[in-house]
Amino acid sequence: MTTLTTNTARVYLDTNRVSGDISPLLFSGFAEHMGRCIYGGIYEPASSCADENGYRSDVLAALRQLNLRMIRYPGGNFLSGYHWLDGVGPREQRPCRRDLAWQSTETNQFGTNEFMGLCRRIDAQPMLGVNLGTGSIAEAANLVEYCNAPAGTQYADLRVAHGYPEPHGVKYWCLGNEMDGHWQIGHLEPAEYACKAREAAKLMKWQDPSLKLVLCGSSSSGMPTYPEWDRVVLESCWEHVDYLSLHYYAGNRENDTPSYLALAAQFESQLDTLAATLRYVKSHLRSKHDVRLAWDEWNVCYKVPDVPARWAEVPHIAEEVYNLEDALVVAQWLNVFLRKCDVLEIACLAQIVNVIAPILTTTDRLVRQTIFYPFMLFSHYATGQSLNVLTQSPHYATKAFGDVPVLDVSASYDPVDDRSAVFLVNRSQKESVLTELVWQSRAPRKMNALHQFGCAHPKAANTFEHPELLIPRVLPGMPLDDHAATLRLPPLSLTVVTCE
Ligand code: AHR
Repeated sequence: MTTLTTNTARVYLDTNRVSGDISPLLFSGFAEHMGRCIYGGIYEPASSCADENGYRSDVLAALRQLNLRMIRYPGGNFLSGYHWLDGVGPREQRPCRRDLAWQSTETNQFGTNEFMGLCRRIDAQPMLGVNLGTGSIAEAANLVEYCNAPAGTQYADLRVAHGYPEPHGVKYWCLGNEMDGHWQIGHLEPAEYACKAREAAKLMKWQDPSLKLVLCGSSSSGMPTYPEWDRVVLESCWEHVDYLSLHYYAGNRENDTPSYLALAAQFESQLDTLAATLRYVKSHLRSKHDVRLAWDEWNVCYKVPDVPARWAEVPHIAEEVYNLEDALVVAQWLNVFLRKCDVLEIACLAQIVNVIAPILTTTDRLVRQTIFYPFMLFSHYATGQSLNVLTQSPHYATKAFGDVPVLDVSASYDPVDDRSAVFLVNRSQKESVLTELVWQSRAPRKMNALHQFGCAHPKAANTFEHPELLIPRVLPGMPLDDHAATLRLPPLSLTVVTCE
């Protein structure tokens, strides 16, 4: 074994030391009627890349590459003013409305059934939200009937009349969106929301008892009501729901890259606080039921200022251009998801196209942004169980979090096909770290490959002019030397080691 010096690290892996099963739904996304996510992103009949139904074939191909398991829809803030009947049936009869959330004009040319078409095309499950802002609990229950009931009653028959004889079978449902936020259309106090969500949940589960329901938790750990909101709504709704949502958007507003690159500490602490809240409420209620966490909006979002769209159709909103440091924050977020997979089962990258998204489009081109690649690598290689990894790493100083390890690491092992993967972020801006991987139990037969992503410049980004400036390099795996292998992790990089 090497002796640890300043720029060396050691990672201990043991396939018997398991943190939990990795839910495939951790690799989900979010698509909202906002800016150019739906129109001009997913659906753009006028584009030369559109298929016969108006879906962008190039966008669908890129989404398939991300291996997204579930898509949350239709919002977001948009949800709280949306009436789902506006978006079904013959297109020429659908109303054009003002969307108050984003101050845009909504044509309703894309609605629930077109969304199901998207999910089918990219092989992802649908996750629908019900409007608990301006919407009623009856409207929520009717949507469940429309989507999930067999023909024979009013809303199920309406679906059949719209050309969908078979139920869509939507299992995952969100009870509103960010109802703790004053910006939300129809924002409610915690006790009011709890009451409305509980009644909606009852009706929805009476329609279909197999539903899995997500209760709105705090919209950010920065909210003054966090985490009290979460405790109050959970205490009222515990037995009726399956998940509590959390949201967070990260940013490097101070241009303090060392602190920004240490954000895993913040993500981990938000999950720890809410996991403790779940444990508290379960004990307090003497319940046998379990509620888990759904991080159903997460991403980097801070560069593009909010400008009202003034009723434009398909305005450019929140079209962030992501750089390397953003991608390394996304990679750490995914590391945290694996480390906390005992309580976190759902996570939706917000959003999937154009609006704070891994994919940016023009009418006939697209670019895969830096954040595309860490997501793609995790969603392909993190399967099976998450391992409780022991990492010995040098530390560096940050303003926001004090001393922080230079390496951020997670690992997975899939007993079904005996494959494993190790995900390593080197947060140092200047130094390589010579890292020894040590398998404490059975070592893999071979290391298949090293996927390495990074460069020397934290602000480097892919653009339409240089769309492949930052893509992962695939290096051959190396022979294992008595249960160990030593790798050089370049500064500002993500390395994914795949083994079998
Ligand atoms: O994803 C953009 C917006 O961020 C969503 O509409 C809202 O839920 C959140 O505040």
